[in-house]
Amino acid sequence: MKNDLLIVGKALPSLDRVEGGRTKQADWISADPQKIRNNLQKVLRKPSGNWYVLGSRNLCSRKPREVHFVNGKELLLIRKGDQFCCISNLCPHMGAPLSIGRFDAERVTCAWHGLSLEYCSTHTKHHLPLYDDGYLLWVQLPGGEPSSERPYLCDRPANGIGAVYQKVLRCTPEHIIQNRLDPWHGAHFHPHTFARLQVFQETEEALFLRVAYRVWRRICIEVDARFHCPDPRTIVMTIMEGEGKGSVVETHATPLGPGYTLLTELTIAHSDRPGFKVARMISPLLRPLILLSMARLWKEDAAYAERRFYLENDASYQLYVEKGRLVGDPKA
Ligand code: FES
Ligand SMILES: [Fe+2]
Repeated sequence: MKNDLLIVGKALPSLDRVEGGRTKQADWISADPQKIRNNLQKVLRKPSGNWYVLGSRNLCSRKPREVHFVNGKELLLIRKGDQFCCISNLCPHMGAPLSIGRFDAERVTCAWHGLSLEYCSTHTKHHLPLYDDGYLLWVQLPGGEPSSERPYLCDRPANGIGAVYQKVLRCTPEHIIQNRLDPWHGAHFHPHTFARLQVFQETEEALFLRVAYRVWRRICIEVDARFHCPDPRTIVMTIMEGEGKGSVVETHATPLGPGYTLLTELTIAHSDRPGFKVARMISPLLRPLILLSMARLWKEDAAYAERRFYLENDASYQLYVEKGRLVGDPKA
């Protein structure tokens, strides 16, 4: 199979020379379900500081007010100029949606019985901390673990081309993280994108892979990538060597409520090639292409995550019987 591919771009060292390197192509034997489960359990024990990704900061800034669900809580995100603030959308009196209230510069007046609240002051008890990382907006909920000052962010390339893809999945955050902790499926389940994939190193904290990405049919570029999880609801792929070194793909899973999860994937493409300056200039044209390839992969990965969810809940028959849709078939 190797000889069928035409590898272009930066050459990588032979994997045999990588310390502890393995050259075996990923397959069902190396994708040990118990190992994937153990890795997931390790990730789930990491602290999150009670931070959750709300979504893309650009998408959030389109409307002055927007309702979001996070971990079963109904939240109201309010934009004031360039700033955001967030409160519970439930009126403390009888739970009316504050989003339908009357807003002035400082206060919202509830539509049901006229209770008035200050919404953007950090002194008000209704205020929920937000963190704007430049691409994504995070909210901190009062939670069952020690809160951190800010989310646990990974290193990102400066001056990259960012694109954010979002999708609601019928599963829990664990199923999204689990999908990414199983890179062994890559070349089998997404042959249109990955021509070849080897997991050449596994450590306590990370998985290292060599991937041949299809540029066009047989023409591929090869990169070494690392998957690691900075918090229990995030998994990050970083290109360590090869074309696009330093680029990251962050996959964030935000529980909306039982059985529903918002996937937010941020790609920040980067390259040290001189031509990348031009790419940055035409980034509005490139962004839709990046989003298209993210959507293509997530059509399949959503099917994977949802099937794992339905199997664990003993309900894979449910959609099939009710809607004639086989859970796990990306074409269904
Ligand atoms: S529900 Fe808001 S004032 Fe009564
Ligand atoms: Fe995948």
